[in-house]
Amino acid sequence: MRHFLTLKDFSKEELLEIIDLAVTIKKQTKNGDKVPYLHMQTLGMIFEKSSTRTRVSFEVGIHELGGSGLFLSSKDIQLGRGEPMKDTARVITRMVDMVMIRTFSQQGLEEFAKYSNVPVINGLTDLYHPVQLMADYLTMEEHGKADDPVVAYVGDGNNMTHSWLLLAAKLGFELRVATPKGYEPDAAVVADAMALAKQSGAKIILGNDPKAAVEGADVVTTDTWISMGQEDEKEKRIKDFAGYMVDSDLMKLAKEDAIFLHCLPAYRGYEVSEEVFEGEQSVVFDEAENRLHAQKAVMVWLDKQRS
Ligand code: CP
Ligand code: NVA
Repeated sequence: MRHFLTLKDFSKEELLEIIDLAVTIKKQTKNGDKVPYLHMQTLGMIFEKSSTRTRVSFEVGIHELGGSGLFLSSKDIQLGRGEPMKDTARVITRMVDMVMIRTFSQQGLEEFAKYSNVPVINGLTDLYHPVQLMADYLTMEEHGKADDPVVAYVGDGNNMTHSWLLLAAKLGFELRVATPKGYEPDAAVVADAMALAKQSGAKIILGNDPKAAVEGADVVTTDTWISMGQEDEKEKRIKDFAGYMVDSDLMKLAKEDAIFLHCLPAYRGYEVSEEVFEGEQSVVFDEAENRLHAQKAVMVWLDKQRS
């Protein structure tokens, strides 16, 4: 049995296999053929943080695969009143076929997985957002940007940055990260990514200059400066991130046909300008839709591993 907790646990071949499966399932769905790969299966969906895309894409995804989703907000279940992760895991996973969790700590997620009888999917932690990256890579492929791309990430060194680092390191492409000083990605994740990059041939460049990162890039991406749980730091962060907005002047430094990605929700006038967000290079709504297709592939792939 396999879980989907971090991209670190997957080989390049496995990640590309999941992407290929997403392409197939998307094609089938678009042709009106919703194949019930997960007939009668139940996906438990535990949310300790807010969500629009993750919730809708997993719930619709499991439904279209022939199963059903069970939305479990920590505001309602006993987990939110202090029932331990390991107890929650041992109860819920005796009743459902797969679990997706959005939570704070990666350790908490891993503890849940340790006690789980069924595959567990990371629907975002403070450290990683791996399912988002599957959708992002699918979007890059569809827009002709998966062939030896240069990806520029500008902004906060957060869960999205960490997942980009691991994706680049696994697949072997060039990733340039520009964060303000003091907001660099986690040192342990960077060390892991650098070690993996040696094997894959990925080029990972970390710095503080958005212009240098974006120069000649095929893909430009960013994320909110204030992730869930950091609301108290809002004012300080807005000051510290001055000069890190992806605006038209910055986009002009990328390749002429570069695409703009953002996992959403986006905060216009902060990490991205209105003009870039709504502009022709922005493919953020293709990216959002691809959450559905990529995650169906993750679920079907995980199901295959146990049979
Ligand atoms: N990108 C993303 O995960 O969106 P939600 O927070 O709306 O799920
Ligand atoms: N970095 C953001 C991503 C939201 C999908 C957060 O963790 O809030």
